[in-house]
Parts: sequence; C-alpha cells; structure tokens
Amino acid sequence: MAGPQGIRHGRRRFLLGGSADGDVRSEGLLTSGVRLDRPYPEVVRPEPFRELDWDPKRARELGERALDLWQELLERLPELPVSPGLPIEETKAALALEVPAEPLPLDDLVAHMREVVLERSMYPGHPAFLAYVSGAGTVPGAPADLLAAAINQNLGGWRLSPAATAIERHLTEWFALRFGLPQTGGGILVSGGAMAGYIGLKLARDRKAGWDVRAEGVRGHEPLAVYASGEVHSINERALDMLGLGRQALRHLPFDEDFRVEVPALREAIQKDLEAGVKPIAVVGSAGTVATGAIDPLPELAEIAKEHDMWFHVDGAYGGPAVFSEELRPLMAGIELADSIAFDPHKWMYTPHSGGCILVRDLEHLRESFSIHEFATYVHRDEERMGSDVDAIDLGPQFSRGFQAFKVWISLLAHGARAYGQRIAHDVELAKYLHRRAEERPEFEIVAPTTLSITCFRYVPADLAEGPGRDDYLDELNERLMTEIQLDGRVFPSNAVLNGRFVLRSCIVNFRTEAEQMDLLLDVAAELGSKLDAEMRPASLR
Ligand SMILES: Cc1ncc(COP(=O)(O)O)c(C=O)c1O
Repeated sequence: MAGPQGIRHGRRRFLLGGSADGDVRSEGLLTSGVRLDRPYPEVVRPEPFRELDWDPKRARELGERALDLWQELLERLPELPVSPGLPIEETKAALALEVPAEPLPLDDLVAHMREVVLERSMYPGHPAFLAYVSGAGTVPGAPADLLAAAINQNLGGWRLSPAATAIERHLTEWFALRFGLPQTGGGILVSGGAMAGYIGLKLARDRKAGWDVRAEGVRGHEPLAVYASGEVHSINERALDMLGLGRQALRHLPFDEDFRVEVPALREAIQKDLEAGVKPIAVVGSAGTVATGAIDPLPELAEIAKEHDMWFHVDGAYGGPAVFSEELRPLMAGIELADSIAFDPHKWMYTPHSGGCILVRDLEHLRESFSIHEFATYVHRDEERMGSDVDAIDLGPQFSRGFQAFKVWISLLAHGARAYGQRIAHDVELAKYLHRRAEERPEFEIVAPTTLSITCFRYVPADLAEGPGRDDYLDELNERLMTEIQLDGRVFPSNAVLNGRFVLRSCIVNFRTEAEQMDLLLDVAAELGSKLDAEMRPASLR
C-alpha cells in the first residue's frame, strides 16, 4: 500500500519524508539517493563504457572456437586417457595464468581453453570411466547450458525467470509423478544429492520435532534421532551436523549380507531411543547405496516411519532414475511412499554437473520449511497486480539460483523418455555382465550382489595361500591396485570398503560404456594385479 506519507511493506513502515520513528534520514544515510550530510556533488554525465559488452559477431567468434573444441573432444574422447595422470602441482602451475590487465588475444584464450578441455581434464564421459557416481554428461546438455548462461535467468523468483521457472516446475512435477508421488508432489533442482539430502532432513526436523524449530532452534528440547543403514551415504550424517542435530543423531543400523538394512534392528533402535527420552523423527532409506547399489526394503521402512509418525526420506541420489526403466521400476517399490526423495539427474540421468533434485510429497512442505516471505522485505511482491507463481527462494536454502533445469529438460526432450529407460537398464545389464565375467575368472572374487549398475569385486591371486594376514594383504593389494589402475588411465574404477574390506568397484552411469570396457577393466586389473602381487606378497602367503 503506497501513499504520500510512505510505503507499508510487511510489518514495517518506510518513510519517504518526515522524521517519525524509523526515518532513515536521522541516521545520515541515503534518502532519494543523496547523502544529506554532504553537498550535492557536481553531476557529470558518464560516457558509455562498452568493453565488457561484446558485439554478437565477437561473441560468435569465441562461441565457434568453443564449439570446435567441443566437437574435437567428442571425436577424440574414446582415444584420450580417462585421466591425464599429471601431478596436481604441474596442472596448477600450467593453468594459473597471471590475470592480464588487458584482454588476452583470442588465440591465446582459445589455446588456454584447449589445454583445459583436451589436455588436463579427466573425463566422466569417457567410455572407460567407471568410478564413483559421476554421470557422463549428456550431449544436448552442453548447448543447453550455454543458452542457460546466455539468458542468465535467476530462478530465485519467477518474475526474474518466467520461462525457466515454468520449465523447472513442470519438470519436477513430471519427476514426482514418475516416482509415484501424488499430484501435490514437486520439488526443486539443487546442486546435487548432498544438498537434496540436507533439504529432506531439514523437512524431517521442522515437521517432526514437535516445536517451531525454525524459530527456536534445537536448544532446550529433547534430542532428536534419525535412522538409516550403516551403508547410507555420509552426506546424511553431515546434513544432521549442518541442521544442528549433531552427527550422533544418526543411528547407523546393521545391514544384511546383501547390504540392505535390517528392519528388526530399526524397530529395536526406535524403542531404545523412546525409552531414553530421545524423539525419533525420520527414517532414511537408500534406493541404491553408493557402495554396492543395494536397495533397502522401502515398504517396510515406510510402514515403520508411519507407525511412529516419522518422516520417511529416500536417498535415491544414485539409484532413483531406475524408475524410468519399466524393467527396473519394480526394484524401487515403496519409493512412492516417501515424504521426500533425493535424486540426481547428474548421476544416472547423465546430465552435466551439477544438478540434483529434491522431490517432496507436497510442495507446500518445502515452502513451510524455507519460506522467507515474512522477513525478506528486500523482495517486494505485488501478487495482485503482477500475478503469482512459486518463488523458489521460498522452497530451498538458496536465494539466487541458475537454470540447472534446462540441461536436464533439453536432454529429456532431445533423447525422449524411452531411450533413458532403456539405457539405464542397459547399464545394469553391463554391470551384471561384469559380475559374471569376474566370477568366471579365477583371479577375481565377487563381494556383493549386483542389483543396479555397480559391481564390486576384488583381485585375489589364484595361488594365494590361506593363512593369517591373508585378508589384510588383499586389502593392501587391492588398494594399491585401484590406484595403479587409475594412474594407468586405460580404465578408471574406484573402490568401496565393504565390511571393513577394500574392494574394487565399477559404477556405470555412462551412456558410452559398453561390454568392451567391462572386459578391459578385468584385463587391466589382472595385468597390474599380478605385477603388484609379485612385488608385494609376503613370504608367509606364498
Ligand atoms: C546414494 C548417494 N547419496 C548422495 C550422494 C551425494 O550426491 P552429490 O555428490 O550429487 O552431492 C551420492 C553421491 O555419490 C550418492 O551415491
């Protein structure tokens, strides 16, 4: 409401004149853009400064050179080493140019970009990249990212990003439906699984603590507890630390030989906490653990959460996209019962980093946990005159936000949903092929079931004697072997630690990987493994 005397905004009143309480002039600050305790400066009309405002021709010239690099990368990718294997000091020294006072000539600029793109990077999109859970990066995602940067939308508010907000809303609602959430479901894109998990657990804290945690914090109340398998990703523990609950609020539950959480142990842990005056607020189920891809018994976890009026969060950061495959979808049964789901397009939807997603059963829950409408006077919203829509500043912890949804959306449109589902299922087939091939070869031992696209195994020399220290030696050997394979650069797996034992791990979230790379992984592991074994094996195990 505006009038000659002032503007009423929320709970406060801002005066444009007069000297009533709250008049900014009384503090000698700006009123109408002028400092009142100084005379007016002489006003000189500034000349335009255009150096940063490149004309479209110059912009295109740089853009085309960048496109050339992109094309060369796509052409040469299969032949490039997965990792340059260069010492980090050398990389730093090569790239840490002095920032010039004047523009770098175009050729020098492109040469620098070329060094980054083609010589000194490691490639999650390389067919032989099998490490961690880092998606390959869809091809259509790259130009979408360029255009997202070109229009430079700020998705904090819908008025700053009408098309982008419309796309993000539509995309997240579509995701929510694919996960089986109701029509009220939706979400937002965030940096990745860590942030999505943090948001899911903040919702749990805010909705289930039983007091107004947003206003009062957690001091002076009973302690809160969250339950998850010992195999849950460590970001969930850190989220509790960031939420002020402390890492110890996470109860790590035992898991079975398939690395799935033990349901009776959950019941026991809740009972123990209740007796000790601790309030159980959430159960976290994993839909694809980071180490082995195990899927917790989600329906049972949902049921227990409901029984105790707890929040049910599913960490599907890695495995979630299995719902896009008709064949794999049944494995995810129960995910539709979640109150919130973390899942990462930048993992198994292959889109370029970064872009994760938090989905909720009811979008309103995000708003209730994150709204700053009441106290963000800086953002004036006249919904009556401008219309209203969702402002994402009220749905998550960020204020300004980029258009991460575009690369995900354009990739989906460009590929179509069918190809996604089929490729995801194909990745699982490849992981199972690797599993079977490793089982067949005498120098490898399979150490976990292959449920999704992760295969875990270790190198065990066929003639290794039984005896004390055998497992410790195998840990040492496989640890060195993983590093040597990564340094070798032909193929790039990572590791897991399962029941305290170090193992090799291949995770396919890569649409360029095929059976050839599975064979290569075992061949390279066998070749380097036997060399290392010859050097390292103690006499007692010969
Ligand atoms: C199951 C799971 N949760 C969470 C994360 C963290 O996701 P991000 O790295 O996108 O933050 C990962 C990463 O691998 C994961 O596999």
